[in-house]
Amino acid sequence: MPRSKPTIPPPTSAADRLGQEESPLVTTRRHEHSAVDSGAQARTLPADLVALFAELDQFTEAIPVDVLEEKIGKLTFRLSDVEDYAIFDDQKYRRNLLHEGPSYHALLLCWQSGQRSPIHDHRGSACGVRVVAGSVLETVFQMTPNGHLYPTISQEVGVDFVCANYDMDIHQISNLQADGEPLVTLHIYSPPLHVMGTYSLTSKNHEEFADPVHSFCDGAGI
Ligand SMILES: [Fe+2]
Repeated sequence: MPRSKPTIPPPTSAADRLGQEESPLVTTRRHEHSAVDSGAQARTLPADLVALFAELDQFTEAIPVDVLEEKIGKLTFRLSDVEDYAIFDDQKYRRNLLHEGPSYHALLLCWQSGQRSPIHDHRGSACGVRVVAGSVLETVFQMTPNGHLYPTISQEVGVDFVCANYDMDIHQISNLQADGEPLVTLHIYSPPLHVMGTYSLTSKNHEEFADPVHSFCDGAGI
């Protein structure tokens, strides 16, 4: 997985966070869905996640990516411990909120076989990931000087694999297992993820998927 120095975005627009003016190559889709799954607070989390979130709640600024990776690597919970949160969607991968702290969001992402993320970056948020169930295929992309994307590596990893991505790494996550084989992944984004850059292999144009409320955490898989 590629590594680069993480950045902490100022509280400005996504374009400002990129250090650039609005470009004709960048369009912003603002997702206004505001439904919040208040039932999430009534469910029970396993002890190691409760302890992790208590630790991470002490951070008031972006959590260093190596800290995220190290702490996620020590978790031992299984899918059966979080099955109340493991909600799937027939149409797209689903993002389920586990916990939100002052400087992060923790989500359980559920992928049916064949479901894929867009090619994307995390625009200002680092992300630590742990595979909870199934096998994930991650493809990493680089950009040519004239703005075209090309894949540099794909790797399939299984349960308990842990990694961390910096904010502007461009990648795609897929569940390409056999029909009926689910994938569940834990993601901790710091600072909380509110904007993703999404890309195409067939165009230099890219978009920003902006979520000013909670749709990223409660069901939105884009
Ligand atoms: Fe990602």
